[in-house]
Amino acid sequence: MTDRLHAEAAEGVAGDDASRFTPASTLVDSHCHLDQPQFDEDRDAMIDRARSAGVRLMVNPGIDLAASRAAIALAERHEAVYAAVGVHPNDCDGFDAGTVKELRSLAAHPKVVAIGEIGLDYYWETVAPAQQRRALEMQLELAASLGLPVIIHSRESNQDVAAVLRAWVNGQAFRSSPLARRSYAGVLHAFSGDLALAQEAYGWGFILSLGGPVTFKNARSLHELVPQLDMTRLMLETDAPYLTPHPHRGRRNEPAYITLVRDRLTELYGVTPSAVAQASTSLALRFFGLEDAYSVGNPFTQGATTPQHG
Ligand code: NI
Repeated sequence: MTDRLHAEAAEGVAGDDASRFTPASTLVDSHCHLDQPQFDEDRDAMIDRARSAGVRLMVNPGIDLAASRAAIALAERHEAVYAAVGVHPNDCDGFDAGTVKELRSLAAHPKVVAIGEIGLDYYWETVAPAQQRRALEMQLELAASLGLPVIIHSRESNQDVAAVLRAWVNGQAFRSSPLARRSYAGVLHAFSGDLALAQEAYGWGFILSLGGPVTFKNARSLHELVPQLDMTRLMLETDAPYLTPHPHRGRRNEPAYITLVRDRLTELYGVTPSAVAQASTSLALRFFGLEDAYSVGNPFTQGATTPQHG
């Protein structure tokens, strides 16, 4: 940890009273794989570090059925953890109607807030593209029928992902589904597209999320793109234990490092850290349908009278 993280962690512990938990002073890690074996030695301590750094909620997507079950088990043990269930394109070999049935039953858990992560991956291409596409389409259909937003993974496959999503949101099944009535249908996670794709995605009712790569010194095109992206439709993520932000690159990532993502976005947008936190945290609560859980007698509602920290 950097000195700065230490300082923020200490501040978080010292000020760990309800009035501090406003969207402007807290963060949501919208995408982290806390169930992965890289955290087996120190999982609870890692989650505590995240809380101390101001991370109010963490959403743990599944990459296969076992990881989806593990994400739910973690969500049962930790108030701050929520789960998404889904099968990743690199793990969708053998995905069939039986897998969908299993996901549907897992998704009934009250702490499951999305279907994901799902998508296409032509970089690794561990599974044939036709099977990846089939698994993606079946999980999109499941999400629509359940009224849950989707978390989309796309690596070197933006064109095909866009084609699938475009057809999906314009189809009758989606338009008559409970998902079409929600504020947002999905998120393009670790967004790697251009401004045109971002704008088309907003039109589908999608939002974007960004993590560690925005902190990379050589990510010039991303640095040029960010200020053109709508800050009110941008969630923060770490994708921990992967995509570790600068200056920890090359080592394991963890949700406490999300403050480095917030700080880089703060510079790129030319706003305050609390403005980035306010926009991204409010969006994440709306996206995952968690405003109610944080509205009645909840710290988040006290934001109006709480001085904003930055
Ligand atoms: Ni991921």
